[in-house]
Amino acid sequence: MTSQILEETSRRRTFAIISHPDAGKTTLTEKFLLYSGLLTAGAGSVAGKKGGRSAASDWMEIEQQRGISISSTVMRFPYRGCLLNLLDTPGHKDFSEDTFRVLAATDAAIMVLDGAKGIEPQTRRLFEVCRERDVPIVTFINKWDRPGRDPFELLDEIESDLILEPAPITWPVGDASDFDGVIDRMRNEYVRFERTAHGASMAPETVLALDDPSLLSLPHAEAALEGSELLDAVDRNFNAEAFEAGELSPVFFGSAMTNYGIGRLLDAIVDLVPSPLPRPDINGDVRAIDAPFSGHVFKVQANTDKNHRDRIAFMRIASGRFERGMTITHGPTKRSVTTKYVHSVQGSDRETVDEAFPGDVIGLINANGFRPGDAVYIDDPVEWRPMPAFAPSLFQIARVKDTGRFKQFRSGIQQLDEEGVVQVLRVPDVGDQAPIFAAVGQLQFEVARHRLENEFNAPVELAPTSWSVARATDEASVPLLRGLRGVEVVERSDGSFWALFESAFRVRQVTEDKPDATLNRLMADEAMDSFGRRV
Ligand code: G4P
Repeated sequence: MTSQILEETSRRRTFAIISHPDAGKTTLTEKFLLYSGLLTAGAGSVAGKKGGRSAASDWMEIEQQRGISISSTVMRFPYRGCLLNLLDTPGHKDFSEDTFRVLAATDAAIMVLDGAKGIEPQTRRLFEVCRERDVPIVTFINKWDRPGRDPFELLDEIESDLILEPAPITWPVGDASDFDGVIDRMRNEYVRFERTAHGASMAPETVLALDDPSLLSLPHAEAALEGSELLDAVDRNFNAEAFEAGELSPVFFGSAMTNYGIGRLLDAIVDLVPSPLPRPDINGDVRAIDAPFSGHVFKVQANTDKNHRDRIAFMRIASGRFERGMTITHGPTKRSVTTKYVHSVQGSDRETVDEAFPGDVIGLINANGFRPGDAVYIDDPVEWRPMPAFAPSLFQIARVKDTGRFKQFRSGIQQLDEEGVVQVLRVPDVGDQAPIFAAVGQLQFEVARHRLENEFNAPVELAPTSWSVARATDEASVPLLRGLRGVEVVERSDGSFWALFESAFRVRQVTEDKPDATLNRLMADEAMDSFGRRV
């Protein structure tokens, strides 16, 4: 049993893709499936055309309307004897908290850059989220089939902008319409690619040794070889330890559209990305990979399937073997849960999972009461480190439009709160009549409004407020703070209290006027800082 768990775990690679919109994340995902053999030439496509775009990972109505991906789902595909779990991260900056949770369930991230644009704002933001956790980053410089920037300049940008040491594993030969192939600096090979019609099948490769004399007759080969030698001279070489510490990033050049370089990138995921490691618990002790089953919930989502009202808790397995039908314990409530309905979810398609291993993601159906960050286990209890909640800076008051729908409204807001779509705050004495929704990004409100209307049949009105800063307080401080001008005391669903302020200036004033009142910054304020939203 133990050896099976360790062996299966060593075959897993669990990662996410981070990129600025339009850099090519969807195309790359589609090509991964093509290279894994899951998507055959011409048959179906992950990425539809924009406008009517319906990627397999884009299923929510609101996403389709807006052409953005806000849900996180999982793709799983085989490659070279390994099983790769690709977790989808929301592309929009308003969902950075969701992204953080997803990245907490991955072992590495692929950062996709558009070769003509380099680092863009959303790339930087997502990178900062990875840096918080020292997630190893593999860089893929995409769209090399189009005129782009100088490759050295792009490396410099990665280094100076992200303080991340770039180590090109592949180096491009030619660019734009002359993009011929790459030098693989790890394997000392020159790989030439050929285009296929619409990039619908794998790009055939011709591999030459770097000292093959015929190489010099190829256009751009000499310049590329010189470039690669220059990289050696400045020691831009791969170092596994620095990569795993999140300090160095192996860099690959290619074109997701024409499939150039996709195979080498996938090889890197198998060869360089570490297989799942034991996870530390709240005390910093690790739970061994072959310990009894345990998992960590990173995402809860309701109503993924319009035909089945349901609620799925996505969890990453941290240790042991999962078997369908197993009775597991939900850590926070100590409730036993049978796992008859457990799926791996790919877009709107579900497959029942019979067994799963560390690094895998499973979706437990009807997971009432589950929240992101929760632990599940059998036998030995475990509690994970809490997931940092981003300090919200946007607050709106929600009211149901038709008071006859109040019951639906109430169950809707409870659901949204548990999923973390928005945080629901209550002003004591006002209660559920007019809760305050707290968010990091404006779009969270729109998702909340849309879902209350469409899933709970409880249309709401959202009214802006002047609050912009939240601080954690405690029950003893409530009487000191209540009634102060420009301050509102609210209660969260877990019974804790927050004080809301109109400005950081007001926080300082109140801190001086009421030295006995507890006013603590919310968790992950550092993460907040790196998002440029310091409060
Ligand atoms: P995203 O998920 O990161 O937002 O990007 P997506 O894959 O949707 O790609 C954005 C656009 O860039 C798409 O063009 C896509 O075809 C194009 N693209 C992706 N990879 C490459 C590449 O390697 N080379 C080139 N030249 N283009 C690439 P679009 O015009 O928006 O859509 P479509 O009509 O081409 O599907």
